[in-house]
Parts: sequence; C-alpha cells; structure tokens
Amino acid sequence: MADRRHALDRIDTTVAHPARRYNYLLGGKDNFAADRASAEAIEAAMPTIRLAALENRAFLQRAVQFLAERGIRQFLDIGTGIPSANNTHEVAQRIDPAARIVYVDNDPIVLTHARALLTSTSEGTTAYIDADLREPQSILDDPELQATLDFTRPMAVMLVAVLHFIRDDEDPQGIVDTLIDALPAGSYVVASHSTWEYLPSEAIEQLEAANPDGRFRARTGEQLEKLFSRLDLIEPGVQSVSQWWSEQATQPRPPIEDVAFNAIVGQVR
Ligand SMILES: C[S@@+](CC[C@H](N)C(=O)[O-])C[C@H]1O[C@@H](n2cnc3c(N)ncnc32)[C@H](O)[C@@H]1O
Repeated sequence: MADRRHALDRIDTTVAHPARRYNYLLGGKDNFAADRASAEAIEAAMPTIRLAALENRAFLQRAVQFLAERGIRQFLDIGTGIPSANNTHEVAQRIDPAARIVYVDNDPIVLTHARALLTSTSEGTTAYIDADLREPQSILDDPELQATLDFTRPMAVMLVAVLHFIRDDEDPQGIVDTLIDALPAGSYVVASHSTWEYLPSEAIEQLEAANPDGRFRARTGEQLEKLFSRLDLIEPGVQSVSQWWSEQATQPRPPIEDVAFNAIVGQVR
C-alpha cells in the first residue's frame, strides 16, 4: 500500500507517458490530456496507429499462447503496460493454471494498477516489480523474481513494444544480451518493435516532430534482428506483428504498412 501511495506521488500528468498513451490508443480510460495530445499528434502522422496498437496487443497474446502450447510455463513480461484484456498470465494460465509470471514496468501508473496483474490462479503465481529495463541486472536480481521463476527451467522473456523506448546511447544490445545470458537453454525471447520502414517520408517527418525528447526510437526489421542474432529465430524470423502466427488471428489481416510494428521470437541455444 505504501508503494502505491508513493507511486501516486510519482505520477506526472503534465507529460505524456508511454503506458498511458498506449492505454488511450487501445481505448482505455487511464490517461490524461498530455497523453491524449501526444497520441493524437502521432495519429495525425499515422492515421492507423490505433489499429497498430490493437495488432501489437493481439500479437502479444498469440505469442504467449504459442509458447504455452510448446510447454513454456514461466514468463518475464517487461514493459507490461496498464493491465488490459488478456494479460500474459490470463492467456498462459488458461493453458496451464500453474504458469508463473513476473511483470515489470517503470511507470508508476502501472504500479497503481498492478493488483489487476496479480489475479493469479491458486495453482500459479504472478508478481509485479517496479523496475527499469535499462537496469536489466537489477530486474534479474530482484528477490521477488528469484522467488517466482526457476532459472534452471526454460522461460520466456517478453519485450513487447518496449525496446523502442530504449535509445541507442542506452545500450539496447547490452540490455538484451544481459537478459539472454541469464536464460537457460530452450528459453524464448519475444519482442515487438515500432518501425517506420513502411511509412512515407512525410509521415516520418511528422512522427519525428511528435518525439521532441527523442525517447522514442523506431528501428528497422534488420536492426531488430541484429539485437537478437544470438538466438535461433522461430520461422520465418522478423515479420509484421499482424502476420505473426496469422492463422490464429481472429480478424482479417491488415496491410503491414498500416501496422508498422515488427515482431521477432527466438530461442536460446
Ligand atoms: C507501448 S506499452 C506496451 C505494453 C505491453 N507490453 C503491450 O505490448 O501490450 C510500453 C510499456 O513499456 C513501459 N516502459 C517504457 N520504458 C521502460 C523501461 N525503461 N523500463 C520498464 N518499462 C518501460 C511503459 O511504461 C509502458 O507500460
């Protein structure tokens, strides 16, 4: 409870935050005027951004299902966001109620909603850590994570729509490598990442103008693949989130330029 009060003090409603902006794009209510203005500036440049957010979210759910059906029972979901429908533990525990999930986010608003992420089945476990992906070793060393996940057995690390908030000078490769180094063989890493490679140059100029602090960093599919080059990629490698395991998608698949998010899933050797 003290954590929650402290989190409320840390919330700055005057500046757009990724978790609240994404919540707005998904149709949620946990956002403020600055988040909505930022989302609308992005939407002016890329009118399909809401579709893109929904497709990214649907990818996350298909990826959890894919891995749970292949026997993965432990998930470390970093940059989890404000709880929404079908969070990682809900999808995983539908397949095996004993699945164990650790959620991580550094936004205090997510901490204030963490209770919704902690609704585990009695057979499984969920935990929430208020931590920063830019300090991956402190996530891995967290006592709650250590008590929840068994590092002698395969697990999945989910980095869904979070790596584009890591600037080049914050060493995204070092962050990814630190996480991969901690994983036992047979584990998976799942990532999605914004890309501007399918967008016209006028849209890119507008998106750059909507990112004045440079916190957001789109990357190409090639750059995304390089971050995970140590892994055995699940076929067919990098592709649009909308196309990933598309046989399982419930809606018709939109064109990849309307989605502008790439996905990758790889396995630790
Ligand atoms: C676009 S949302 C994605 C939410 C969820 N993974 C999904 O794809 O549906 C990005 C999330 O990453 C979180 N985030 C951004 N930078 C982070 C960091 N350095 N450490 C931890 N979380 C971060 C934001 O607070 C936000 O909740």
